[in-house]
Amino acid sequence: MCGIVGYIGSRNATPILIEGLKRLEYRGYDSAGIAIINKKKSLKIFKEVGKIIELERSLPTPAETFGKTGIAHTRWATHGEPNLKNAHPHADENKKIAVVHNGIIENYKKLRKKLETKGYNFSSDTDSEVLAHLIEYFNRTEKNLTLAVQKALKLVEGTFGIAVINEENPNQIVAARKGSPLILGIGNNEFFIASDVAAIIIHTKKVIYLQDGEMVTVDKDKFELTTLENQAVKAKISEVDWQVSAIEKGNYDYFMLKEIFEQPISVENAFRGRLNEKLSTCRLGGLSMSGEELRKIKKIQIIACGTSWHAALIGEYLIENLARVSVEVEYASEYRYRNPIIPADTLVFVISQSGETADTLAALREAQARGAKVFGLTNTIGSTIARESDGGVYIHAGAEIGVASTKAFTSQVTVLTLLAVILGRMKDLSPTFGAGFIKELKQIPQKIQQILDNDEKIKQIAETIKDSTNALYLGRGINYPVALEGALKLKEISYIHAEGYPAAEMKHGPIALIDENMPVIAIALKDAIYDKIISNLNEVKARNGRIITIATEGDEKIKEISESVIYIPETIHSLHPLLSVIPLQMLAYHVANLRGLDVDQPRNLAKSVTVE
Ligand code: AGP
Ligand code: GLU
Repeated sequence: MCGIVGYIGSRNATPILIEGLKRLEYRGYDSAGIAIINKKKSLKIFKEVGKIIELERSLPTPAETFGKTGIAHTRWATHGEPNLKNAHPHADENKKIAVVHNGIIENYKKLRKKLETKGYNFSSDTDSEVLAHLIEYFNRTEKNLTLAVQKALKLVEGTFGIAVINEENPNQIVAARKGSPLILGIGNNEFFIASDVAAIIIHTKKVIYLQDGEMVTVDKDKFELTTLENQAVKAKISEVDWQVSAIEKGNYDYFMLKEIFEQPISVENAFRGRLNEKLSTCRLGGLSMSGEELRKIKKIQIIACGTSWHAALIGEYLIENLARVSVEVEYASEYRYRNPIIPADTLVFVISQSGETADTLAALREAQARGAKVFGLTNTIGSTIARESDGGVYIHAGAEIGVASTKAFTSQVTVLTLLAVILGRMKDLSPTFGAGFIKELKQIPQKIQQILDNDEKIKQIAETIKDSTNALYLGRGINYPVALEGALKLKEISYIHAEGYPAAEMKHGPIALIDENMPVIAIALKDAIYDKIISNLNEVKARNGRIITIATEGDEKIKEISESVIYIPETIHSLHPLLSVIPLQMLAYHVANLRGLDVDQPRNLAKSVTVE
């Protein structure tokens, strides 16, 4: 959910920790803190509510914050208000052991009660604080931080990514993970702990992805990887394959704007090397199944959350239309608890940009427990979902820092479109269709660019709706999930309540909301059901609704009922979503910006929801 950074080496840890937290701030950001062991071998903890810059400003002189061993945390509160006392790191009562924690200690109340009966006093309302006291309790007898952490974690139910330091052993960090990502970075005579590569990539690209149930004891000049049961684990060192620039804003005001404008490239990266022009079809190497096995698939289940769930819905329309395979799309948070049925010859996909979403990971494990083969569509190499899937496809969108997902969505949709064509070409799709699809797909990046070039016009339209309190997004067919996604973008970054609806369904209730104050953003592209959506929009017009349309270039008729029109280039029906979503992303960005809000770090949100 949020961020952990640790450092041990010969440099001053504090600036490294602060810089690392800044690079993780997009993940969760209601408070932050660092713990270092200073030159006098004393543990010092500094915390602040709000952004990392507030913590940085609150730090005392460099002399007081100098230390070669340290851990740090950005918090996204689950238990206890986002305030100073609940900020991490948490310490034992003697202020010698400090802990930072990502995740949820589900049985913290029981553990706290036990510790309080032993005379322990708590200073926060968090679940995490029990870890500090538990570790201190076991360290009294073990006199070994690794063993004390192991004993403490044996009592814990829930999820954790933790890092721990003890002033009595100033040259050591102990870290462990179960359900929240954790990475060991290997530098030159220095080591890093992080919940996300972004925090440490400027220092090293050599990393070890800890797996659930693993822990690492890091000293100044060595590390030992073990299980939580103290069994040695063979270290697998990976090389991170992306550049620091991927996590820099460059000339953009916000990461989200940068990522919106990266889509001509990121969509191309999603299909690069996956077009089989000779056979007029596509290929996805990670689908470790033969053609024969794929042909036998009778049902597909796609499980995801949020924006990824919207991409999954588009996948349903595409796969059923092009490949004639039945598709069910499920919210991961529902799937994991509702006793799902997975018939034989069912292929399950999970979609997750971060590859760490707790609900989606749990759904993956549930499907696997029922004997299903599960493929992951993720954007994060080495992520838990990528590693636990039975195979899968990386969408290659590059690091997505903005909390509101944009380029990952269009890359997910691109990969799902390729999948639909692969399966369709095994059935009824002709080589002519396949060739035409590939030809048009290769045009999409420059067609996205054409829409991006229209940014000023979209900003002007944003001006006309920025003070609205509600908005309705309408779409039909394959553009209905796009309407859902447009509504999510607006509400999550501008805090304007917005709903996406199937256009024809609007008359079954939501039409009561229509009046001159309600902007209705409708995707009305030239396709087989164009006339139908025009009828729906006339129903809105008849009630003085304000209509903003996303329309096909050259469509003059649409102007008659639209207050504003955003034109997008024509393309084939299967590729509509890759274009129709772009103006909705831009509209949401401009409305939020015009409202003076933090586009990259909207209130209450986090980039990767690694808790239930
Ligand atoms: C997207 O704009 C949202 N921030 C959120 O709905 C996100 O899509 C969802 O949490 C799923 O994340 P994932 O793709 O990393 O699993
Ligand atoms: N559950 C812990 C808390 O509320 C950690 C939350 C997080 O992952 O930031 O403090």
